[in-house]
Amino acid sequence: MAPRKLAAGNWKMNGDLAALAEIDALVAAHPAPGCEVLICPPAVLLHPMKARVDGGAIALGGQDCHAKASGAHTGDIAAAQLKGVGASYVILGHSERRADHGETDAVVAAKAAAAHAAGLTAIICVGETEAQRDREETLTVIASQLDGSIPEGATAANTVIAYEPVWAIGTGRTPTNDQIAEVHALMRERLAGKVGDASQVRLLYGGSVKPDNAAQIFALPHVDGALVGGASLKAADFGRIIAALDAA
Ligand code: 13P
Repeated sequence: MAPRKLAAGNWKMNGDLAALAEIDALVAAHPAPGCEVLICPPAVLLHPMKARVDGGAIALGGQDCHAKASGAHTGDIAAAQLKGVGASYVILGHSERRADHGETDAVVAAKAAAAHAAGLTAIICVGETEAQRDREETLTVIASQLDGSIPEGATAANTVIAYEPVWAIGTGRTPTNDQIAEVHALMRERLAGKVGDASQVRLLYGGSVKPDNAAQIFALPHVDGALVGGASLKAADFGRIIAALDAA
């Protein structure tokens, strides 16, 4: 059986208390979606957002966590702290963190292990740059990011993989259907042996997913949902993406 599909929204460094109205609108429009719906807001919004969705159909997640459980790490957040305010997921190794904060595969794997220890599901992101794609290195880059970023103990229940080509993020450009399908097939194959039952690991596509292209992406083999940036900020747009995933 195919795993339960997942529509995940990554708000990045966007949104404030007033933006919680978008969550109210989303809950009102999609009280019982068939797919799992997840919002990863800035950490400061997790607690107030939890109050808006409590008992509802929307799960919450962080956008990063520290590899350590606690300690002198000014500005960082531990996985258990995310969990404590209502998160059940955390995005790790997003290309913006890999680029802006120098996160290596080893750092991502350590953070994912910490997330697992705290009972969070880790959404581990991988993706090639435009230069790597131009040099036809995409498949080797993705394989090596997967090998290096997935910790021991990863399972289909505690790990989701998001394929986000760096050049497709926030640009309005998306890979062709064949390019997405090729990478997702490679990821499914590569996960065998690294996680218990690779067929049950959710594989998300991310990078300029919009209401207008969602259905076509969700129809591709081994695409179990999306990690959505800009289009997750507005309930109307994200709602259309949820509806497309439910219909896929
Ligand atoms: P966009 O949907 O804005 O391209 O962002 C994708 C992304 O980085 C999600 O994590």
